[in-house]
Amino acid sequence: MYQSTHNHIDSAKDLDASDPMSVFRSRFHFPKSPGGQGLYFCGHSLGLQPKDTRKAIETELDSWAEYGVEGHFEGPHPWLPYHENITKSFANLVGAKNSEVVAMNTLTVNLHLMLVSFYRPTRTRFKILIENNTFPSDKYALDSQVRFHGFDPALTIVELQPAPGKKTVEPEDVIAQINALGDSLALVMLGNCNYLSGQCFNFKEITAAAHKNGALCGFNLAHGAGNLTMNLHDDDVDFAVWCTYKYLNSGPGGLAGAFVHEKHFGDKKIPRFEGWWGHDKNSRFKMGPTFEPIPTVEAWQLSNPPIFQLASLRASMNIFDEAGIGNLRARGDKLTSYLEYLLKENCEGKLDIITPKARGSMLSIQMKKDPKPLVKILREKGVILDFREPDILRVTPVPLYNSYEDCYRFVQIMKESI
Ligand SMILES: Cc1ncc(COP(=O)(O)O)c(C=O)c1O
Repeated sequence: MYQSTHNHIDSAKDLDASDPMSVFRSRFHFPKSPGGQGLYFCGHSLGLQPKDTRKAIETELDSWAEYGVEGHFEGPHPWLPYHENITKSFANLVGAKNSEVVAMNTLTVNLHLMLVSFYRPTRTRFKILIENNTFPSDKYALDSQVRFHGFDPALTIVELQPAPGKKTVEPEDVIAQINALGDSLALVMLGNCNYLSGQCFNFKEITAAAHKNGALCGFNLAHGAGNLTMNLHDDDVDFAVWCTYKYLNSGPGGLAGAFVHEKHFGDKKIPRFEGWWGHDKNSRFKMGPTFEPIPTVEAWQLSNPPIFQLASLRASMNIFDEAGIGNLRARGDKLTSYLEYLLKENCEGKLDIITPKARGSMLSIQMKKDPKPLVKILREKGVILDFREPDILRVTPVPLYNSYEDCYRFVQIMKESI
């Protein structure tokens, strides 16, 4: 797609100028570096602040000042149903029905809540298939759930195995490993994308394989939400969770999302941890002694949500609604391919890109030499990226706010600094 004429700053500028999606960049604050505006490639970790966020939070501070507790019913965005302002945007984002998505809690909390409901091991069917390189916190959560049910994580949690000499697992090997676990498999629980390699999985095929073997299938979309296009409902995924502070730009510690497929609603066999915010909205404030669930994913809500966090999420989701996740993914593919092309063209022999073609916007770059001194130099030159021991740089051109020029300038700095 790209050729030697593109290996030039003028070409990068032309690519930016001819892309209508470039307009969204001006809606974000960029961190400063000593030489001016820095180069930010860390949207897979913490997304940048939309310029509208401050106003959105201030509006709710004003409501609080003006109305006190009445802010639950008064003001421009009454707080009682505030989380519902996110529903449609989340549904569009992950390909779900409105009844299947909710903004609540934080990611690991939601993961635990979903595991309470959807990891129900028996003496013979108890295994969980996860990725290799699972994010450690996800492994801690799974280990603790497994122990809670009286099983030994070492005999219960099975990691996908790449073929010898490969860094990521081929799609057909994922299916083969699901089939091999057969009747012992209770749950397939994968990240999408993988946080370290950037590899993405095929939801539909994997979910179908899990179901064929009598297991359930859930995804952790920490690195997928706001990055990939998805059809969780049509792909028959049982549940999913995601955070919103990465690609979704809701700010540090922002609220998380959860998806439960509607086929599970109303199933009384499904255990669930409960709190008053999951109680039927019509009778919640009658304060009755018995929990009556909302007949949607909202039944999994526990507490009344943090409004300032919802406000910042709302500000960011407005931008996603305007841009459209399909358009963003299309631009993301072009930007990421451009970065890949530039790295291969300018830094040949110094690094390997380990992210396979089934990917979102993040590239995981394995350096041939110890990258720690390089990371230090890059930081001094205003580049913000992510380093993972021992030798991986994770670099993400985010389609909402990174530009072709960012990619070009970054690779020039890499070339002179390596
Ligand atoms: C894949 C993955 N899982 C879990 C977490 C933990 O998220 P939280 O601290 O929001 O619970 C992260 C955070 O970066 C992550 O990337």
